Amino acid sequence: MAVIDKNQSLNPYPRGCTFSRADWDAIAPFWFPVAFSHDVTDTPVAATLLDQRLVVWRTSQGVSVANDLCLHRGVPMSMGHLQNDRLICKYHGFHYDASGKCTLIPANPQASIPARLCLKTYPVREAYGLVWTTLKGDGSEANLPQMPEWDDGAYQQILPDSLEIQAAVGRQMEGFLDVAHFAWVHHEAFADRNNPQVPPYTVTATPNGLRAEYTSSVSNFPKELQHRAPADFQWLRVFDVFLPFAAILRVHFPAGGRLCILNAPSPISARKTRLFSPLCRNFDQDQPLEPVYEFNRQIFTEDQAVVEAQYPEDLPLDLRTECHIEADKTSIAYRKGLANLGLSKIYTA
Ligand code: FES
Ligand SMILES: [Fe+2]
Repeated sequence: MAVIDKNQSLNPYPRGCTFSRADWDAIAPFWFPVAFSHDVTDTPVAATLLDQRLVVWRTSQGVSVANDLCLHRGVPMSMGHLQNDRLICKYHGFHYDASGKCTLIPANPQASIPARLCLKTYPVREAYGLVWTTLKGDGSEANLPQMPEWDDGAYQQILPDSLEIQAAVGRQMEGFLDVAHFAWVHHEAFADRNNPQVPPYTVTATPNGLRAEYTSSVSNFPKELQHRAPADFQWLRVFDVFLPFAAILRVHFPAGGRLCILNAPSPISARKTRLFSPLCRNFDQDQPLEPVYEFNRQIFTEDQAVVEAQYPEDLPLDLRTECHIEADKTSIAYRKGLANLGLSKIYTA
């Protein structure tokens, strides 16, 4: 006989949650991007974060994020439409305001509206061209990744398309931080199989995670532009990790040039990740952007092929599970950082 869970309606975890409950609890307080700001205009947008289906919509009060569910008869609110600052359900036209409160039941306009009839909303921030939310955070910005260059007039903002990766967010993040793979995975794009050595580099703790400072002769120009750097130029790459799943890479180009890349993967589920990668730079601003988008796409899809093939699919946080080399200093510190957040020791998303 089926056992009915009396508390089923109070279950705080998303339906079909693919994370362990402990992992979901540890990750949910953090901010994640769920949409491009420019995609949230006059129609509601569906998104999924940590298996939670969400609707994202814009009113005169800004952007709202809520569970994508009308509690009347279970229809996704992302199927609805917007009119006069109200999100209107597709099925029976209930109206909801920016805070998720139901303001009109068209079939019974005089009846009082039960307080329970509201959309569950979450804190929202717009930053770096993205809409960010947190499923369990208090709304403070303390753990929102900080990339002040984005709003600095000396920098050009560049917003590539997102990339959907069939892999765990932890594997994607670690791939972004890995410097020993440049020579092998990005041989065509910018690195060189004949220059595979990783010089010693430093990793230090920061309030939000860790910083790795890596100097090498590996150019960050695409192959066809590598003549633009002096032959003996030493490239400094500074990685700032915002635990658990965001990082900013600042590449120091010749003549004071800076390229800042925010690696902001959004965990759709334990096995699916939507990668956002806003970037900004203080040089080459008169150059066309198409080659930048193409170069960015090439690099992230080269990484994608590896990350989607790795197994176990989750990032093993028990350091005895995989073998580490000197060049893995960043990823060792990263795995320890995730473990300290309370994520599962053996395999986690
Ligand atoms: S299901 Fe949304 S109004 Fe009925
Ligand atoms: Fe890579």
